[in-house]
Amino acid sequence: MRYVSLTDAQPGMQLAKDLYDVNGRTLVGSHIMLTANYIDKLIEYGFAGVYIVDDLTEDIEVEDAISPQLRTEGMEKIRSGDIDGCKEVAEKLVEEILSRGKISLDMLDLRSYDDYTYAHSVNVAVISGVLGMGFGLGEKEMAQLVMAAMLHDLGKLSIPPEILNKPGRLTQKEYHRMQEHPVISYELIKDRFDISAQVKVAVLFHHENVDGSGYPNGIMGEEQTLFTKIIHVADVYDALVSKRPYKEPYAPCEAAEYLMGGCGILFEREVVTMLLQAVPLYPKGTELCLSDGRCGIVKENADVHNLRPVLRMMDGSTLDLSSRENLALAILPPGGKQEVSINDEEERREMMHGYRKQQIIVVDDMKTNLQMLYDILKDDYKVTLLKSGEQLLRYLECNPRPDLILLDIDMPQMNGIEAAEKVIEMTEKTVPILFVSALCDSKTVMACRELDVAGYIVRPYQPVYIREEIQRVLSRWEVS
Ligand SMILES: [Fe+2]
Repeated sequence: MRYVSLTDAQPGMQLAKDLYDVNGRTLVGSHIMLTANYIDKLIEYGFAGVYIVDDLTEDIEVEDAISPQLRTEGMEKIRSGDIDGCKEVAEKLVEEILSRGKISLDMLDLRSYDDYTYAHSVNVAVISGVLGMGFGLGEKEMAQLVMAAMLHDLGKLSIPPEILNKPGRLTQKEYHRMQEHPVISYELIKDRFDISAQVKVAVLFHHENVDGSGYPNGIMGEEQTLFTKIIHVADVYDALVSKRPYKEPYAPCEAAEYLMGGCGILFEREVVTMLLQAVPLYPKGTELCLSDGRCGIVKENADVHNLRPVLRMMDGSTLDLSSRENLALAILPPGGKQEVSINDEEERREMMHGYRKQQIIVVDDMKTNLQMLYDILKDDYKVTLLKSGEQLLRYLECNPRPDLILLDIDMPQMNGIEAAEKVIEMTEKTVPILFVSALCDSKTVMACRELDVAGYIVRPYQPVYIREEIQRVLSRWEVS
């Protein structure tokens, strides 16, 4: 079997694994032929890809780390907020993990948007269990760790789905709401005598970073427990490799790269190292392309083949990338996400830290003015510079809404007032506009007043004044 992303899936391909709906019922069974209609529906549900059967890869088996029944049961218990049920599932999960011995987490994401939180919690539990086993924890301790992982996002059940699954950027208010979930999860279990303190602490602190930049308390690595650090890494890894309404999944090797980059800052190095032993960088059944233009499907990826897997090539031959004659061949970046742009990187950081810089668009036809505002704002905000009203409208058509627009008035072709009128119509007044201009004649000022924009700053200005004015507008907008 092999994995194909739904954007590459073709009608007539045969499914190799069942797909489940949010209630654990089979949505499409294995051995079903995909049709164009099925493919469209699965994309709509938010599945990223499917496993298919074909002659080329019939000897490649991809095993889930736990049985589908237990996975469904775990999701069900989390969905219904059944804490006792989660405890039982955690024990069964540890039993399954221990009975399998060495586990390779090869299977890629097979979940829809709707069941993200539940599927994510079970995944984090499995990954944490595997890491716990790697750290040599005993069965009882592993059950505690896995239980904490099952419960870590329970508080998300009380966050409205429109915030949880919002395709665009979250507002600051929505971010704060999201950041409350570890405390809510903790509140749900804190009075239970049958749940140990180490489970409660791990749940409360699963978003803490080792450099103290996390939340809710900003505690440093040395104050964190091993459980906290394990769940944090497992949580971020699973979030990175899953498809969300606002992002495509990262390939495991990209997620691994990210975790390594965050060692000592966000994550405990030892935990990341342990994760890299359990998670194959190139999962079995996925396609890899090589620097000589050929592509193949990963057949073996364990141990020496972790970085240099064995591939089943498209002509049916086998290619061992770890053998001496193939060492010059480079593995190209995974498909689906060919490159990481600066914006993506910034969004990843935002996701990791759980907060985001507010975005300000500055529109001015004068390069020097743009540069000056950029220098004043860049440390505190994400600043996007645009040179005309037309550019601004085009930008707004295909990007999430910014938090504020700083708009020059005196611009050729479309002046700032015309641009503001169009923006107000387009965004239905959801984005505040601050004019920044040297023009302060009564006609201009009246025209601005009529538009009822957030404010008017006259050049020349003091940097401190413009910062204060921006803070005033943003805080007022948040409240309203
Ligand atoms: Fe969380």
